[in-house]
Amino acid sequence: MVKKTLLSLICFVFIFKLSAQGNIENNANKNDLISYKLPKLLISNSGKKISTPREWENFRRGEIYSYFANNIYGIVPGELNFQEVEVLDFDKNALGGKAIRKQVNLIFKKGKKSIVMTLLIYFPNKKIKSPVFLAYNFEGNHSVNDDPSIIIYRSKENESTNEKNEETRENKRGGRESRWALNKIIDSGYGLATIDYNNVDPDKNDFSDGIHSLLYKFGQIKPAKNEWGSISAWAWGMSRIMDYLETEELIDPKKVILFGHSRLGKTALWAGATDLRFSMVISNNSGCGGAAISRRRIGEKILDINTNFPHWFAKNFHNFNENESSLKVDQHMLIALIAPRPVYVASASEDTWADPEGEFLAAKEASLIYNIYGKKGIGIDKLPSTNTPFHGSVGYHLREGKHDVTDFDWEQYIIFANKHFR
Ligand code: GCU
Repeated sequence: MVKKTLLSLICFVFIFKLSAQGNIENNANKNDLISYKLPKLLISNSGKKISTPREWENFRRGEIYSYFANNIYGIVPGELNFQEVEVLDFDKNALGGKAIRKQVNLIFKKGKKSIVMTLLIYFPNKKIKSPVFLAYNFEGNHSVNDDPSIIIYRSKENESTNEKNEETRENKRGGRESRWALNKIIDSGYGLATIDYNNVDPDKNDFSDGIHSLLYKFGQIKPAKNEWGSISAWAWGMSRIMDYLETEELIDPKKVILFGHSRLGKTALWAGATDLRFSMVISNNSGCGGAAISRRRIGEKILDINTNFPHWFAKNFHNFNENESSLKVDQHMLIALIAPRPVYVASASEDTWADPEGEFLAAKEASLIYNIYGKKGIGIDKLPSTNTPFHGSVGYHLREGKHDVTDFDWEQYIIFANKHFR
């Protein structure tokens, strides 16, 4: 009897302790008994409480950034700027005359190696410097708009011009138009600058191609454990395009908005955390390794992403497969690194793989930093109903529907940008 009572007592204390651990465990999946405790944003590694922007910038931001850099995305092991800019096209009569289209090659060289990034930009046809959305595309610049003048990029690997290849490429022309709301963007006074992310680093588990190999030390054939995976390489590419945009007289370099969907939403967040020149960041359905809290283990987990896409993150990130709780950070801290610049996290209700609620909770937790700057964060505590946007300095919406980018999403991004820029 005494033994039984003692056993029940021990069990009770254990269960109580487990549930007291997670400060937002109520939001965890009912089927998933793992409770979690988020690392504290406002306590530094040495235990210092952070309550002012100065303390955040001097003590806390750097240690969080460096942890993400060394353990998750990977550091960039050197510097390289483009050596040549080649203007391929400049047309003042694009989109029926309301836009200017420009296409340029940014050429990077190191030793015998080189890469070429082909940038497509549509500016509003006005005599002022425009704010611009900067975004990678997945399937080539020509997939963004059904415009026969958009040059089809040919990398060294796919430069063959046989008839069949040409036909496949042509078939993609305008194939992703529905994701770009180009007319809305231009009509609202914004430009759009885009390049195929494969130009910077082809999206495959191969570190011999793309930008990585241009920065290898003698004899190196793959990144060291704390060095860049592809997401970090793509983020680096966004900064190099920013170098170019700063020289572009039709653009206001103080109003460059990073946008990315899915793996490119993860990239936009990391690029925004790394390069303070980006004045706003939007991550659309970015999920695991993007906006979603890893410790929830809902939808895609670290093990899944590192197994299916072993090249996206630093090798060190694989240490956290099935081991999220030993991370010293979680993704709310990535969003916090963007503060006090406006940041937008968007989810889609059917996109359970990206864990919409986990994305929301990260944006909510990151709001604490915005509050320290005297700004309103997301302004709500619970996941809102679908199609109900919130636009504080942290923006959020849960769009009804699947993993995608739609006109509804773009309408919100334009409203958000107008609110903060005008
Ligand atoms: C996969 C991957 C996601 C990623 C997505 C995408 O679904 O698991 O993490 O966001 O691809 O980029 O399309």
